[in-house]
Amino acid sequence: MSKATAPGKIILFGEHAVVYGRPAIAAPVSQVRATAVVEASDQPGVHLIAPDLGIRTLLDEADEEDAIAAVLRQVQTAVNLPAFPDMSVTVTSQIPIASGLGSGAAITAAAVRALMDFLGLARIATPAWVSALTYEVEKIHHGTPSGIDNTVVAYEQPVYFVRQRPQNQIEPFTVARPLRLLAADTGARSSTKEVVLDVRRQWQAQPERFEALFDGCGVLAKAARRAIETGDEAEVGRLMNQNHQLLQEMTVSSPELDGLVAVAQAAGALGAKMSGAGRGGNLIALVTAETETAARRALLAAGAKSVLTSCLKTKSQP
Ligand code: MEV
Repeated sequence: MSKATAPGKIILFGEHAVVYGRPAIAAPVSQVRATAVVEASDQPGVHLIAPDLGIRTLLDEADEEDAIAAVLRQVQTAVNLPAFPDMSVTVTSQIPIASGLGSGAAITAAAVRALMDFLGLARIATPAWVSALTYEVEKIHHGTPSGIDNTVVAYEQPVYFVRQRPQNQIEPFTVARPLRLLAADTGARSSTKEVVLDVRRQWQAQPERFEALFDGCGVLAKAARRAIETGDEAEVGRLMNQNHQLLQEMTVSSPELDGLVAVAQAAGALGAKMSGAGRGGNLIALVTAETETAARRALLAAGAKSVLTSCLKTKSQP
């Protein structure tokens, strides 16, 4: 039996603009994880099981859209495997779907790692390899992903990311003082693919305006990296508020997100913004040990469906 897990993620700065080559910052959310288990089966075939989604099918019978089948096909091609042995692949996830926390990328990364281990090929499955394969699967579901989600989920550390050719710029960076973030779920679900597509339509219709908005996000992401590296959390908070305004101008926020961002700010958060594709999903709020409880209570009282605490830190920090 082979088992692997992968974390959720939050985008701290630069969502959407990152698709257009501007820098962005993302971090893993290690408390919520996707898990994949691969086991030998005494029944013929490859059995795909996702209990949370009510999916139980055979690989040969899975339709084109099936996310787990896509992972298996990618792995099969990547390692030149003529056929899989009889086995079952079961995926479960604590990460809410379509909420901006990267559930799809995490399920894929966990399934890739568990499969590679089961096939005796774990040594090939480096973070870079898992990330590249996860990206291929993300492309099937999301059209034009930037690559930031698969990167942060596969490397499981905060990254400064720039989409570029021939190779993306992926830089882990130092977090001088751990940052305490709340991720609050509006409960509204949205399709990353559709929101990204809608931003593209708007960019095509108003290229100058959207290029300027993307540039603004890039400037904020760069400044945020410096502020995180020097431990200036008040500045990180201010930059989050500014990033939220730019995302509002891109029309990817929503009344629910705006409402909860305002609630977090009023409850003492140093800054707050939507996170991920938007039009639903999660917002993040930067809090301190002193303001965390009040901000969490206020968010729940205002209708947040759940509030997670996530700590942004360098891998080696306690
Ligand atoms: C989604 O987590 C982040 C977006 O910027 C899309 C992407 O980067 O692929 C909205």
